[in-house]
Amino acid sequence: AEKRAKPRITVRLSSPRGFCAGVERAIKTVEETLSLYGAPVYVRHEIVHNAHVVARLSAMGAVFVESVAEAPTDRPIVFSAHGAPQSAHADAAQRKMVKIDATCPLVLKVHTQARRHVAAGRRVLLIGHANHPEVIGTMGQAPDGEILLVQTIQDAKDITIPDDRPLAYVTQTTLSVDDTAGIISALKNRFPDIAGPAKEDICYATSNRQDAVKASAPGTDLFVVIGSPTSSNSVRLVETAKAAGAKHAMLVEDAEQFDWDMIDGISTIGLSAGASAPESLVEDFLTALASEHTLDIKTIETARENVVFNTPLRLAS
Ligand code: F3S
Repeated sequence: AEKRAKPRITVRLSSPRGFCAGVERAIKTVEETLSLYGAPVYVRHEIVHNAHVVARLSAMGAVFVESVAEAPTDRPIVFSAHGAPQSAHADAAQRKMVKIDATCPLVLKVHTQARRHVAAGRRVLLIGHANHPEVIGTMGQAPDGEILLVQTIQDAKDITIPDDRPLAYVTQTTLSVDDTAGIISALKNRFPDIAGPAKEDICYATSNRQDAVKASAPGTDLFVVIGSPTSSNSVRLVETAKAAGAKHAMLVEDAEQFDWDMIDGISTIGLSAGASAPESLVEDFLTALASEHTLDIKTIETARENVVFNTPLRLAS
């Protein structure tokens, strides 16, 4: 029988994609804590929002808990990259636990800003998504009810400010750059004197990944973002791909979870990965794609990154 040629498919591969400096640092922090203290090491919340990363660290002896109270007092506890409310820091101190803070330095910067605004007598509005752990952590930099959440342009128009203190805003780090610009301009429209950061709080990794997706999505029949559904920046990349003209866009955990029938008849696919998704998952996806197709890979690079954050631990040498 005649051997059929594999169909060709063009892959538009976004760069940068995948791990950011904050995620690299957080993962390394857990690994270093394990080698310094031995297993088990407790981690407050998923260290980063990726099922593969969490499974690998669990196998090494990390135990993931949702609150400090769930961890024993005689083992170290690592706080996740998303940051924690002051109450969680206080719990760990009160229980005299060894606490290692893997909060991304770019999230800590937002915490510091929020606390400074409150100390200066300003009412803080946080632009972000309800219930995301980063939002819980940032809201928890001030007493309950002090920081108000704004999720949408409509919220910016409707929000009731309970007193006449001067206003300031801060943002979650992993938002859509474009949606956030709309919310900020709605706030400035209504509150011309509102104070804000000199440069937006959306982090370099979030905006670089969105830029790369914007450049690679136009003309794709399907755009795939590798990442976990709990990952805020990954979900934003799917929205960005759709807005930039991908016919379809979807989030997928890994090659195994992908419905390969989706590829039938497609000539161009876009590919990126969220800031917490390991590059090996992108490689596995391309390998699986190559088993039935001849790949024509075009890397669309919109920025180069060289950000590295040191871990909070210094290992004894
Ligand atoms: Fe930090 Fe941005 Fe990554 S806030 S954890 S560098 S997505």
